[in-house]
Amino acid sequence: SKKILLIPAAGVGERMKIGYPKQYYPLFENRTMLEVTVNRMLGMSIFDRVAVVVSENDAYIDRCRFEGAVEIHRCGGDTRAQSVLNGLTALHAEPDDWVFVHDAARPCIDKESIVRLVDTIESEAVDGAILALPVTDTLKWVNDDAMIEKTIDRSRCFRAQTPQVFQAQALLTALQNAIEPVTDEASAMEMQGARIKVVEGSAFNIKVTYPEDLKWVRSYINQLSL
Ligand code: CTP
Ligand code: MG
Repeated sequence: SKKILLIPAAGVGERMKIGYPKQYYPLFENRTMLEVTVNRMLGMSIFDRVAVVVSENDAYIDRCRFEGAVEIHRCGGDTRAQSVLNGLTALHAEPDDWVFVHDAARPCIDKESIVRLVDTIESEAVDGAILALPVTDTLKWVNDDAMIEKTIDRSRCFRAQTPQVFQAQALLTALQNAIEPVTDEASAMEMQGARIKVVEGSAFNIKVTYPEDLKWVRSYINQLSL
């Protein structure tokens, strides 16, 4: 089975407040965030196919320069999950191909983390795996009035990152059947009772969400190798 990288890049970047989608922010050496993310992934030589989902009216993608073969699918949806579902459909993957879904907005992804994901799906009996980090703060569960009801066992809590990897057919079915809104692929797969392993991610692999996240990413990207 193939390893396919699917990058949703059809968001509008509302919280970033730069007036255009954040994936096209010039991040490093005159390259946009999307180019940095995709080119780092291409440089890892792990994926058999690399695909990017952009919105139908995207005015920036044609100017991107990628350092390898990249499929562009102009079928983004109104939500991240819809963009992933539309992209997955457009891929026409084999049912057992492994699809790694990775946010365009996480340009600091490192090869070691990807290798840990690959090792997990290739050597363990799982339906999928996601990168995640343990929580270090004490966690409080509160009511509607912000009053603490209890303390959560943080050793059981992880912060989900991307990539998240699942087999193409299973992910397609899960996203089609997801009734509640889902913010990541794993949530849709969890609803199907899938066995999904949490794999150690990296603190550098942050998602650029707010303008202040950029300064971290700029300093990380200067220090990171693949
Ligand atoms: N994304 C997408 N299609 C959407 C919404 C998001 O492909 N309809 C992508 C974004 O381009 C990004 C990733 O999903 O690479 C993570 O989403 P997020 O960080 O929320 O980006 P935006 O939705 O663009 O930002 P915001 O929520 O602030 O508008
Ligand atoms: Mg969003």
